[in-house]
Amino acid sequence: MSVTVQRLVAAVDLGSTKITAVIGEVTGESRSWGLRILGVGVEPSTGLRRGIIRDFDETVRAVRKAMTDAERIAGIEVGTVYSGVAGLNVAQRTSSGVASVTGSEIRTSDLARVNDVASNVSFGHDQELLHAIPQDYRVDGQPGYGDPVGMAGGRVEAEVYLITVRTAVTAHQRKAIEKAGWHVGEFVLEPLAASLAVVSAEERDSGVVLVELGGGSTTVAIFQGGKLRHTASLRFAGGHVTADLVHGLQVTQSDAEQIKVKFGGADEASVAENEVIELPASGVVPARRAQRKLVAHIMHMRLQEVLELGYDEVTRAGWSMAALPSGVVITGGGAATPGMVELTRDVFAAPVRVGVPVEGLRGLVDRVGAPEFAVPVGLALYGARQVALGVGFGAGGKTSPAVERVLGPVKQWLQDFF
Ligand SMILES: Nc1ncnc2c1ncn2[C@@H]1O[C@H](COP(=O)(O)OP(=O)(O)OP(=O)(O)O)[C@@H](O)[C@H]1O
Ligand SMILES: [Mg+2]
Repeated sequence: MSVTVQRLVAAVDLGSTKITAVIGEVTGESRSWGLRILGVGVEPSTGLRRGIIRDFDETVRAVRKAMTDAERIAGIEVGTVYSGVAGLNVAQRTSSGVASVTGSEIRTSDLARVNDVASNVSFGHDQELLHAIPQDYRVDGQPGYGDPVGMAGGRVEAEVYLITVRTAVTAHQRKAIEKAGWHVGEFVLEPLAASLAVVSAEERDSGVVLVELGGGSTTVAIFQGGKLRHTASLRFAGGHVTADLVHGLQVTQSDAEQIKVKFGGADEASVAENEVIELPASGVVPARRAQRKLVAHIMHMRLQEVLELGYDEVTRAGWSMAALPSGVVITGGGAATPGMVELTRDVFAAPVRVGVPVEGLRGLVDRVGAPEFAVPVGLALYGARQVALGVGFGAGGKTSPAVERVLGPVKQWLQDFF
């Protein structure tokens, strides 16, 4: 295949239920960039839980399988990947800094300096900085400037949203991916990546909440004014829905998972009274029948709880849905549950839609046409964006992985996008 190596990007998403690899080619230039998906690999795995590796060898196996499958479909080998982090290992805070303006008007270099000052805080030895996202600038004490380049002023202050991650977590993840045979070029916050795949620039600008319902955790992220404003991880997710079905229906874990995907729903009212399903035997419990309504009831209770926690997180962060007019976009495997849009609409009292990766995509788009692909496709899109803007790295070949050298001095501020 004739793809320039520098224009290739690869991503691997290490989820609690599956590992997903995406390989693509960057299309377009600077502002009109996109991604042509060339290969996708999905391997079920339970080697990780909420971003923490529980079974190292199993994780290595699944990364290798997902990546090799994606490479085979793409007909191309890659060396370097973008990978995601999320969950309880991520911390955030807002920090501010001041710098004086060197020339007659504010230049990009002044902003880079003030951003550096604001970001230069101590996180403790066990945390490393993942993203520093400028939120707002003050010019000579006046707040409310998103981009003050070109303005006259003597002093500029920046408020920067800092996202850090536990060093041990990225170290283990890097080790597993390297053992599988690939290099990690950069770690990216998962909701930041997912937003590129499922949220439009207009929605990010007007204000939107992204709720990612995964297998191990649920992530909430608020975007407004084009930037990430807040993110948090909730303890409950799809795995808890399955566990509730195990208890409520007296079935095994794998039967519960199947029943959930095949007969599940979040809306009891939509299920007919007389609909029954067959429950397989489990241990001493013989095969029997149950009302399908019961499945929906159990799922409804847990999913409503998860969504209410999500709503509480938004209000606790100081936001109201009135300030986020684009409403809620739900992603992750759990977003595929029938009735989920309606339930989310009830809880948030806002417009809701399911986020399926479409933004800026070509190629094997059908292969990733489900909400569970928001994060892996978003990671590849994040890479594509970096490459198109000339600040990232391509996926390279197996033999030229020296990414750190490429990235080295480039400190890019995400203000254009986030
Ligand atoms: N059609 C469906 N109906 C209901 N639940 C579903 C459906 N499809 C997937 N799920 C659930 O979605 C969850 C997996 O979601 P996802 O693939 O986004 O998680 P993950 O990335 O592996 O985990 P995490 O990001 O939490 O570490 C599982 O609990 C699965 O049962
Ligand atoms: Mg996930």
